[in-house]
Amino acid sequence: MTSTAFPEQGLAAEPLFAQMEQARSTDVDWKRGRLGLYVHYAGEDVLAVAREAYLRFFSENALGPKAFPSLKRFEDDIVAWTASILQAGSAASGVVTSGGTESIFLAMKTARDWARAERPAITGVPEVVAPVSAHPAFDKSAHYLGLRVRRVPLRADFRADAEAMARAVSPATIMVVGSAPAFPHGVIDPIPDLARLARERGLWMHVDACVGGFLAPFARRIGYPIPPFDFAVEGVSSMSADLHKYGFTAKGASTLLLADAGMRRHLVFEFDGWPRGRYASPTFAGTRPGGAIAAAWAVMRHLGAEGYSRLARAIMGARDRWMAGIEAIEGLQVVGRPDLSVFGFTGRDVDMFAVAEQMTARGWFVSTMSEPPGIHLGMPTMAHVPHVDEYLADLAAAVAAVRAGRLSAASRDVSYGG
Ligand SMILES: Cc1ncc(COP(=O)(O)O)c(C=O)c1O
Repeated sequence: MTSTAFPEQGLAAEPLFAQMEQARSTDVDWKRGRLGLYVHYAGEDVLAVAREAYLRFFSENALGPKAFPSLKRFEDDIVAWTASILQAGSAASGVVTSGGTESIFLAMKTARDWARAERPAITGVPEVVAPVSAHPAFDKSAHYLGLRVRRVPLRADFRADAEAMARAVSPATIMVVGSAPAFPHGVIDPIPDLARLARERGLWMHVDACVGGFLAPFARRIGYPIPPFDFAVEGVSSMSADLHKYGFTAKGASTLLLADAGMRRHLVFEFDGWPRGRYASPTFAGTRPGGAIAAAWAVMRHLGAEGYSRLARAIMGARDRWMAGIEAIEGLQVVGRPDLSVFGFTGRDVDMFAVAEQMTARGWFVSTMSEPPGIHLGMPTMAHVPHVDEYLADLAAAVAAVRAGRLSAASRDVSYGG
């Protein structure tokens, strides 16, 4: 950390913003499709709506629904709209959270408290059985909540192995997890098989649709063969679906849905042991930015199912061209059969980490993956659609350079996050 004292004197807006622009001059140019993750772009119109809505509710706080019935209405609409595209019944309930990790955290907390009430025979550390491809947020939440995650190897097609997961269920198990899709390989787990397992053993079933929740329903609507993954599958207890990914709204917005409003009492935290009176909050965060909820409502209302379907068509179409172009390069192969936009590719006889270095040298921010060793495309959005051909041309040149120079990589760092 640099040891800089807190500035004594203030700074006017103009030089201040000049400094901020200078600071971002080395950030990745994501609008030119150079970055595969972290930013979800749906075009200038959507960005303008999200920004304007966020700014209009910049100061309001969703901790106070009585003070801000506007935010309560927006949140109720967001939850109801999300429940309808994820085929939840009329008994469903939900909450807008700050992101996928918080939605997963709250699903784990709700399942834990449900198990305490409904499964009193469980003693010791309650367990969650998940495929090895599930997001690290499950382990992060387990760490905070005093739970344990048992990660189970995948089938050869990179999807969850329901039989192996059944064998991993123990008397301490409270929850089964599947992803729609999982981030590493972009495939949707066999949710009906996992939900059956949960039903048979009396367990909570969570589907992590943080990535797919706002893409899969529209990809299906335009004709892509999306396997069953939502509340239409009997036995799904909860789902996480991120608004700030393929919902295309401002950062700080996701949803957690519960199949039955009766489960909500295990979600909400209530406290009365201080001199200010009863405090109740359904989320991890206390204060919740009104802007994030307002922007999510505005983007959903602005796009409607038609707008999301148009975006899904463009993004899935780009994915099709991208995957075909990659497989047309000698020696490269897409990993598994991705169901949505996320995918990775590997090389049969070429060092993929050296290819990644060559792509970095050509100006792309490249993410790699460890199993199998390859390049990960992250979450393509409208920022990538116009640049697929450029990417493929650079990739062909990068592979040729690695082959010609018999290059191997200086680094095999596959870390993600900070
Ligand atoms: C499948 C999946 N679940 C959960 C998350 C966590 O979401 P967030 O980073 O918004 O907390 C991610 C993030 O990429 C993800 O890919």
